[in-house]
Amino acid sequence: MTRIIKSFFSRSHIKSFAVLLAAASLLMSGGCKNAQSDESGTLRVGVALYSQDDTFIATVVQNLERMAQEREGQEKIKINLSIADGHSNQTTQLEQVERFLERGCDLLCVNIVDRTVAAVIVDKAEEAEVPLIFFNRQPVAEDIQRWDKTYYVGARAQEGGTLQGELVLGAWQSDESFDRNGDGVMQYLMLEGEQGHQDSLLRTEYSIKAITDAGIEVEKLASDTANWNRGQASAKMSQWIDRFGNDIEVVIANNDDMALGAIDAFKEAGLELPLIVGVDATAPALEAVASGRLYGTVLNDAAGIADVMLDMLMALTSGADLSEAVKLEDGHYVWLPYRQVTRDNLDEFIS
Ligand code: BGC
Ligand code: CA
Repeated sequence: MTRIIKSFFSRSHIKSFAVLLAAASLLMSGGCKNAQSDESGTLRVGVALYSQDDTFIATVVQNLERMAQEREGQEKIKINLSIADGHSNQTTQLEQVERFLERGCDLLCVNIVDRTVAAVIVDKAEEAEVPLIFFNRQPVAEDIQRWDKTYYVGARAQEGGTLQGELVLGAWQSDESFDRNGDGVMQYLMLEGEQGHQDSLLRTEYSIKAITDAGIEVEKLASDTANWNRGQASAKMSQWIDRFGNDIEVVIANNDDMALGAIDAFKEAGLELPLIVGVDATAPALEAVASGRLYGTVLNDAAGIADVMLDMLMALTSGADLSEAVKLEDGHYVWLPYRQVTRDNLDEFIS
């Protein structure tokens, strides 16, 4: 032992001492320690949500919690998930993000409230050197590209819209009773999600495009936002039922909760259900598909988002090659595929 110490000091000890000093100051410099430097072996993940009341987001979180636990068992590590609810308030969320960074974490996952202001969060994460994953609410490309450790995990909004439109198209073409007044024109209502959300804008546009591209004539009776929300959608639909009654042939909702809200309103009015479709494949929506109240939906892969984020956590903290762990596009994006769900393939989605 003494010999080792002796030789340590007798060799180029000045150089060694400098290395030690550098290492110590790195450890003390605050910010966020990475996984290898955390002696307890715990990986800390800060998860900032736009709103935990959102059914789809709550599903992502449930998956994240369950899958993190599974990995703890498999990989003999500890994963500490801290979840913060932004209550749809960007100022609140920014404070939550700052707190995560101050306390130190290995990864920050942000479901941003206002997707036009991501740059501030990117800059804060970069300063603290904490890799950053945005999910579900997609910031503009410019902000994602600001720092090479910024990523986006989600599904392509346009694809979801197209698949939803194709669902409607298939039903319409296979059963002429959906054309209630027999005029060959599809009289429809559109329930939109939050204004400015990529999924509201693009699902609205591309669902209809898939139908009109196939040569079907459509007539929009009305459209409005119900903010992804079942109650709001039901209230809106009640007004539309008063106005349009049995003229309503198709209801396209940007998500399942709003489609279920529409179903609630028809039920309350005691009217026969028109053709109704949603997006997400949440548990209550799958039940509604099973019972035939909801014609179909499009799987928005909540479990996939959670799984990919955990894969990225493992790769980013172990120094492994990220592009081997996940399918990274343009250095920043991981895209999850959407899938159509109807009564015919429902079995594949019920776990
Ligand atoms: C989902 C919605 C959800 C929204 C929240 C969308 O992708 O389809 O159900 O409310 O994301 O950002
Ligand atoms: Ca018609």
